[in-house]
Amino acid sequence: MANLTIGGIDCTVLAAASGTPLLVYDEAKIEEQFAAAINNFKSDMFETEVVYASKAFSCKAIFKIAQQMGACLDVVSGGEMYCAEASGFDMKNIYFHGNNKSEEELRQALETGCGHIVLDNRMECEKLVSLADQMGKSIEVLLRVNPGIEAHTHEYIQTSGSDSKFGLSIKEEEAIRNIVKTAMDSKYVDFKGFHCHIGSQITETEGFEKAVEIMVAFVRKMNDRYGIASTDLSIGGGFGIRYTDADKPIPLGEMVQILARTCERIMAEQDVKLNKLLIEPGRSIVGEAGYALYKVGYSKDTETKHFLFVDGGMSDNIRPALYQAEYSCDIATRLGEAKDKLYCVAGKNCESGDILVREASLPQTACEGDLLVMYAAGAYGYSMASNYNRAGRPEVVFVKDGKARRVLRRETYEDQLRLEADEQII
Ligand SMILES: Cc1ncc(COP(=O)(O)O)c(C=O)c1O
Repeated sequence: MANLTIGGIDCTVLAAASGTPLLVYDEAKIEEQFAAAINNFKSDMFETEVVYASKAFSCKAIFKIAQQMGACLDVVSGGEMYCAEASGFDMKNIYFHGNNKSEEELRQALETGCGHIVLDNRMECEKLVSLADQMGKSIEVLLRVNPGIEAHTHEYIQTSGSDSKFGLSIKEEEAIRNIVKTAMDSKYVDFKGFHCHIGSQITETEGFEKAVEIMVAFVRKMNDRYGIASTDLSIGGGFGIRYTDADKPIPLGEMVQILARTCERIMAEQDVKLNKLLIEPGRSIVGEAGYALYKVGYSKDTETKHFLFVDGGMSDNIRPALYQAEYSCDIATRLGEAKDKLYCVAGKNCESGDILVREASLPQTACEGDLLVMYAAGAYGYSMASNYNRAGRPEVVFVKDGKARRVLRRETYEDQLRLEADEQII
């Protein structure tokens, strides 16, 4: 029987120092993934940029690592932008996304010197142009279009892409031309090119290849037909990771290297020149680096199931309840023991759907006080965590070389009460 170690530290030592539920990131793995993306998404034909999609996991510590590693940042709200600024991130390396950016958020971007906005629709473009002109602040923009490719894991489907809440369908040429012209007519808004994002947890190259083909052809068409010159093209994120044995992702470095070669080939075939290509990995940077540690509480047998309850749940990771996401797990304090019993690992939130792992083979000796680890819990767990049942968001620690540092402290009852008010407002 052995205990799981993360970054050289025994999980029981981490749990004793920080309590549970606890999200532990192996910092070296995060750095490895940044390096894999940055060092392999390279070309002699064009510049490249790796933009970390911070919606996957954001805090000052990860922003600092992203900056040190040489990545740019994708933010989707004033809050993410604010956190990036507070971390000392160079604002000119930020790409601000989102389908309904408010006037305040656009002002915030202009005021703080955010380098790039990824425009999503006509109204936003008009608002940005008017604000930038008013404020006399310059900004570069991309426009999000849907190439009509939707990719999920190892399947991709060609869709009209016209009913997404994000961006414009690539078929809406006139509308796209008008938006770009509005941007180009502004003294302060500098149109750089187009952006697309075809999906998430994509483990094959086919969907990306198809998207690049369509986007590069579109760049050419918009130039030939309307004189709209692009210098940059972002092909989004969505690179898959291994949650369970069923996932067989291409390692990130290999994936982005294939993508760079694909872009080169397609640009040469279509005789299109671009200065810069961008990718936006989120999950693949932080997902597998994250380990969620829970304390095992009670267990219960029903006619069909053996429940094992843990001290977290959908309030710290809603993905299984929200879209049946699957994870693998272990009893972190019983590694090496036979996994001879099929459990259903459930959280402690007040919701029947609060199941973390539907079917997990674990040692039958698992008991109250053991630690359970959920692997690959680093993406879209903490960032989607809620205050449901006032459970309190977990603590987050980064471990490296046998040392651990707290980067987000546990949300306390006092933290929750800080938002309480009793003020007459009207
Ligand atoms: C525009 C955009 N870029 C990048 C990402 C990151 O995707 P992933 O975390 O799957 O790499 C997303 C995810 O929703 C996205 O919408």
